[in-house]
Amino acid sequence: MDRFAGHQVLVTGGASGIGEATARALRAEGAQVVIADINDTLGRQVADEIGAEYEHLDVRNSDQWANVVQRHHFTDGVLNAGAGARFNDLREVSDDTLETVLDTNLLGIMIGTRELFRSMADRGGAISVTSSIAGLVAHTQSPVYAASKWGTIGWVRSIATSLAQSGVIINAVCPGLVDTPILGPGGGDAMRKMGLKVLAAAEVATAHLDSLLHTEPGTVFTVQAEVPVGIHESKSIAGYQG
Ligand SMILES: NC(=O)c1ccc[n+]([C@@H]2O[C@H](COP(=O)([O-])OP(=O)(O)OC[C@H]3O[C@@H](n4cnc5c(N)ncnc54)[C@H](O)[C@@H]3O)[C@@H](O)[C@H]2O)c1
Repeated sequence: MDRFAGHQVLVTGGASGIGEATARALRAEGAQVVIADINDTLGRQVADEIGAEYEHLDVRNSDQWANVVQRHHFTDGVLNAGAGARFNDLREVSDDTLETVLDTNLLGIMIGTRELFRSMADRGGAISVTSSIAGLVAHTQSPVYAASKWGTIGWVRSIATSLAQSGVIINAVCPGLVDTPILGPGGGDAMRKMGLKVLAAAEVATAHLDSLLHTEPGTVFTVQAEVPVGIHESKSIAGYQG
């Protein structure tokens, strides 16, 4: 299939894991792909291998965002770069950890949405954000990460309607556990040994491609191992007037 022929797609965090798998899937479907990451060695290696371009882009830096977006003509963006943080004792969590996780996972998504929207608003486009199942439920082992991912869901659901008025559709993909380096030492195998089910990154990539082509704005997809892809609805609250 060539569902993305004629598309130019930016994939942040495309040097590894879900971003890499999404870049590969997009190339296989005919897209021109620009991988953006802070891991230049890995990013260039993947880009060369699949016939994509590579850009150094720290998603926390708005100047870098503006520079990259101005030099391309993106039809689609996969806002995927992310950082994790686990801790046992909140009293020992540094400001640096809080800032890295929140700035990468939430601020980076907001800046990226704004910069892509500035460029896409006259002609339309599609954005797919990597959130997490941890953005929909309490994740007691990683509360800072969970808070950042809840933020991305709030962002996507709240900004979707106004972007759609200019023809830009933003949706989110919420994976469960995925076998990528972000899981830390032992990766997916360590999780499987604990009896947990783990997705392959390619399964999340498939969801991102479907999300980019999905025309209903603000849709939140759930992707979990051995469970069909779902759409997560937010519950209405009696008396809410927003
Ligand atoms: N692996 C999982 O279990 C899982 C589950 C749900 C959601 N996610 C999310 O999926 C996304 C991708 O993670 P992954 O699992 O593929 O992990 P990964 O570690 O393989 O990939 C993350 C990529 O993001 C890049 N990155 C980190 N900080 C960056 C920054 N400031 N600017 C640009 N690039 C940056 C890294 O260099 C890396 O290439 C993340 O948002 C993560 O939170 C992962």
